[in-house]
Amino acid sequence: PIANNLFGLSQLEDQIRQAYGLKKVVVVPGDSDTSPLVKQELGRAGAKALLSVMDDEDVVAVTGGTTIADVAEQLTLPANGSLKGGWFVPARGGLGESMEMQANTIASTMARKVGAQYRLLHVPDLLSNHAYNSLLEDTNIQDILSLIRKSRIIIHGIGNAIVMARRRKLDPETFAQISSEGAVAESFGYYFNEDGVVVHRMLTLGLRLEDIRRTETVLGVAGGKSKATAIHAVLRFGQEDILVTDEGAAAEIVSHY
Ligand code: BG6
Repeated sequence: PIANNLFGLSQLEDQIRQAYGLKKVVVVPGDSDTSPLVKQELGRAGAKALLSVMDDEDVVAVTGGTTIADVAEQLTLPANGSLKGGWFVPARGGLGESMEMQANTIASTMARKVGAQYRLLHVPDLLSNHAYNSLLEDTNIQDILSLIRKSRIIIHGIGNAIVMARRRKLDPETFAQISSEGAVAESFGYYFNEDGVVVHRMLTLGLRLEDIRRTETVLGVAGGKSKATAIHAVLRFGQEDILVTDEGAAAEIVSHY
């Protein structure tokens, strides 16, 4: 029965909120691992959560990924709102994803959807030390980096470490290193073990851990039973304020951790 179901979801929300000390948890019914409709609902709930915290003139940093792409797709500005003074920027450089799920693409879609502004960061995801240092000297890059570091809100996806390492086609050596270090989760280019400790990072430009630590609102959107461990790990990292997830992931988190 629906009433029971709703009661069950709000209980899951409370349990997760309390267990990880979050400000807010939203759980949509179903499991996005098995249903594209649930993934869409997750996107819609993510969009609603974002609008509930975003004010005009805010800078919002966004990551890539299919989930945050769904959030962008579902974003619509309420009739009485204005975000004309707001900015969307990618949280980190390229991250080697296909076009539709790149942070740059998502930032520009979000801005278009709500009539806000955007800036892009045109650098590849994985940089050599040499490239990294010379890009840092470029004044255009410095400009956009200082805007990114002013973000008041980060909206990000969470992935399984191994899935993301494969998707980013990391070289076999790095891949082996990441697995031997016990990485289970990836988010914003950082790989985390089950205790939420960063065990590996990709050398790219954008938000650094210290920027994430001082960002006022960190909003994670991720669902599907298969992501439960990854979500748990990122929540243990301890910087999350709002989590938007689905029943599949939430039920698994509550029963395992
Ligand atoms: C990446 C983000 O692009 O997408 C990561 O940078 C995240 O933060 C990942 O882990 C998740 O992707 P998806 O497609 O599972 O939402």
